Amino acid sequence: MTSVASLIGPELIRVTEEAAIAAAHTMGLGRRTHSDHVAVEAMRRELDRLPMAGRIVIGEGERDEAPMLYVGEELGAGRDDPQALGVDIAVDPLEGTNLCATGDPGAVAILAAAERGGLLYAPDIYMNKLVVGPTAKGRVHLDAPVAENLRNIAKAFDRRVEDLVIVVLDRERHAQLIADIREAGSRVRLIGDGDLSAGIAAAVRGTGIHAVMGIGGAPEGVITAAAMRCLGGEIQARLTPLDERQQSRVAELGSDVDRLYATAELAPGEDIVLSSTAVTGDRLMAGVRFFGGGSRTSTLFMSLPQRIVRFVDTIRQVDPSIPVRF
Ligand code: FBP
Repeated sequence: MTSVASLIGPELIRVTEEAAIAAAHTMGLGRRTHSDHVAVEAMRRELDRLPMAGRIVIGEGERDEAPMLYVGEELGAGRDDPQALGVDIAVDPLEGTNLCATGDPGAVAILAAAERGGLLYAPDIYMNKLVVGPTAKGRVHLDAPVAENLRNIAKAFDRRVEDLVIVVLDRERHAQLIADIREAGSRVRLIGDGDLSAGIAAAVRGTGIHAVMGIGGAPEGVITAAAMRCLGGEIQARLTPLDERQQSRVAELGSDVDRLYATAELAPGEDIVLSSTAVTGDRLMAGVRFFGGGSRTSTLFMSLPQRIVRFVDTIRQVDPSIPVRF
């Protein structure tokens, strides 16, 4: 039987590459909305060519607020074909729009796809998250005191609490969390944006990141969960509405702010694939580089059913009259 992984898995690499290249052309221009727009356009164009009946479950917002890649949008060359494979898709065409606008590291074009129902619909509200990689999986709890989690992560890595690096979004709301981590003795890396790519980095040894803690976007939490399923890491999360609009959104959806979501509840699929292409580089991947006749991109591709994680380095020649030198 055709699976999402076999039908469109490797094709997704091109989808995120095209979105990343489009965004990277705008890097450092200080035009975050424009950067996001070109990434959305490129991602939508490429997704629409794939032989699937795709449906956006995490996207750019609700239908009335986003013209493309809105939640519920159907796309793909097989969207009107009852025989076509149904695919649920969670996209973040430009994760870290500010990072791209300022040229700071950590912006990525990313998406996850799965069989129908394989990715939870998460409203655009906040979520309190705790993300660790395979080494510390099963050793932490979102409700445990920060110091206890850090001790357990350190034990899992067989190192001192002082040696850990914990990534936290640099926000006022995290003042207490940051103070608790520092008090426990671990080091903190404050990031301006991009807790999704930081979460993926925490699940890959050698990046120097041991966990991500704090409140960020719920849609990013679902895509993080898809990555953790593929990488063997873990996310624990709880919806955390921070204002009245978000509270009523949670109530409307019949969601529960007390519910603790585990990785497999956020991304329950068995046929999950994910592709992430760096726009601006970080320690995991190099950002998009342009040369006279083309571009070079770094992508992290993963497939849960195939149990593979692939680092893809693509050189794309756009103008054949200019020789490629690399
Ligand atoms: P955008 O790419 O949509 O700008 O989101 C970036 C991000 O930093 C996410 O990584 C994070 O989950 C969320 O925004 C945090 O939200 P806020 O900036 O409101 O604290």
